[in-house]
Amino acid sequence: MSPITRLVVLLLAIGGGMLYKRVNQLWGDLPAPTLDPQEWWGDEAKPKDYAAYLVNSSEVVGNRLLYPESTIEDLTKRLNRTLRLTPPLEGVAFEYGFNSDYLQEVVDYWRDDYMPRWRSREVFLWQFNHYTTEIQGLRMHFFNLMVYDDNKVGKAHYPVLLLHGWPGSVREFYDLIHMLHQSHLDKNNKYIFNVIVPSLPGYAWSQGTSRKGLGPAEMAVMLRNLMLRLGYNKFFIQGGDWGSIIGSHIATLYPDNVLGYHSNMCNNLSPRSQVKGVLAGLWPGLFVPSGFEDFFFPKSREFSYLMEESGYFHLQATKPDTIGATLTDNPVGLAAYILEKFSTWTNATYRSLPDGGLKKRYKLDALLDNVMIYYLTNSITTSQRLYAEAYSKEQLDLKLDRVPTLVPTGCARFKGDVMQFLDLQLQDKYKNLIHSTYYRRGGHFAAMEVPKVLYMDFIEFVKKVEHKYKIKSL
Ligand SMILES: *[C@@H]1O[C@H](CO)[C@@H](O)[C@H](O)[C@H]1NC(C)=O
Ligand SMILES: *[C@@H]1O[C@H](CO)[C@@H](O)[C@H](O)[C@H]1NC(C)=O
Ligand SMILES: *[C@@H]1O[C@H](CO)[C@@H](O)[C@H](O)[C@H]1NC(C)=O
Repeated sequence: MSPITRLVVLLLAIGGGMLYKRVNQLWGDLPAPTLDPQEWWGDEAKPKDYAAYLVNSSEVVGNRLLYPESTIEDLTKRLNRTLRLTPPLEGVAFEYGFNSDYLQEVVDYWRDDYMPRWRSREVFLWQFNHYTTEIQGLRMHFFNLMVYDDNKVGKAHYPVLLLHGWPGSVREFYDLIHMLHQSHLDKNNKYIFNVIVPSLPGYAWSQGTSRKGLGPAEMAVMLRNLMLRLGYNKFFIQGGDWGSIIGSHIATLYPDNVLGYHSNMCNNLSPRSQVKGVLAGLWPGLFVPSGFEDFFFPKSREFSYLMEESGYFHLQATKPDTIGATLTDNPVGLAAYILEKFSTWTNATYRSLPDGGLKKRYKLDALLDNVMIYYLTNSITTSQRLYAEAYSKEQLDLKLDRVPTLVPTGCARFKGDVMQFLDLQLQDKYKNLIHSTYYRRGGHFAAMEVPKVLYMDFIEFVKKVEHKYKIKSL
């Protein structure tokens, strides 16, 4: 090599090295950030003696959560006002949002059929014991279903934390809870679970904070604290929507506490994953199990769907309190806003149905239970603030998308869900993606829509975890 060539090669090598370093800075793996496990979210100042506070506040109390007749009558009256709804445009079903003709039908049913049965709905909702305890200054609500010794015999027994999202609630999980917890009724079933189902902070009966900054990562800290308080040091996680993101953060920040993380909205929005997603679109056949290409491609369809359906997201991430004000004390608007999501996110084609296809996959009572939970607890604004906190500078700076998650991970994809990620993208973060499945039926609210399918998928995942890792039954 001539000296000139040598120089050029040397310069190229240095340049290449610097470029690699630069790109790596932009999208390489990052170490996990450390979060304060005692960060204070309560209204009052943080107690000086935190240890004493913990002793005082860690009591777990049962809660009946009954609502007085006056609240129920008042709601019925509100639902009995003459609605000045604007009729839908000619030939329009749900394409412009919740169809107002159908909304009137829902309200009539709610007022005349559902509300007179509210006390029996209450019995249904309270079939699981509701508990509260205080975590980092906030009252947190949860179910904690334990298993009697007799029912454990001959079974593998684990705790599982079920995490809901927006605009859902613990109500989404009722059928799934039975399957996980009452599996002793089926002799052939090898599994039984302690099932812990919290309401996310600011959702339903879990108190919202009065301080800025309680995003998904901070919720992960609180939920882990809840699990530790209840005596669960190692547990499975199952979640969709925010529950999937918060569950991922628990798995990422506290791998020692997580036996396995199972998601029905697995995602990875890191820059590297996004580039991979776009590149994979050039040769879909290479990256997708054959027959499932339509889960991911064409990307143009995904993009236009996102444009049409993500308005709520931007609104809640930027002005949650304004949209919150329009929905608070407005049960009809609240129902329209929440139930529109149960239509479109279940199946996008339901937008062309005059009733949004809502009753195709759900019972109207179950959907109204969920709306009632938001209404009675007045939690729509606090629930929507999670979007704003998730996109704060502080939260984005944590860059959790780029922190590898090492715990065994399972991904169940439902065709009707709002977004889909390739294994190729997920493996970028989830280094032990040991379970990856596809379902043609079912959408975003899989736990509520297809509980049995989700249950079976979760069990398959648990089996794989048991097979690959030595995990201890409770
Ligand atoms: C704990 O409770 C006791 C008795 O109610 C009270 O006097 C004390 O101030 C509490 N301490 C903290 C740190 O909350
Ligand atoms: C609704 O209002 C109408 C007319 O005022 C009344 O006759 C009816 O009893 C009310 N229904 C309920 C459920 O309050
Ligand atoms: C959505 O609805 C259409 C029309 O009823 C149906 O063909 C399709 O399978 C449904 N998709 C899902 C994910 O359930």
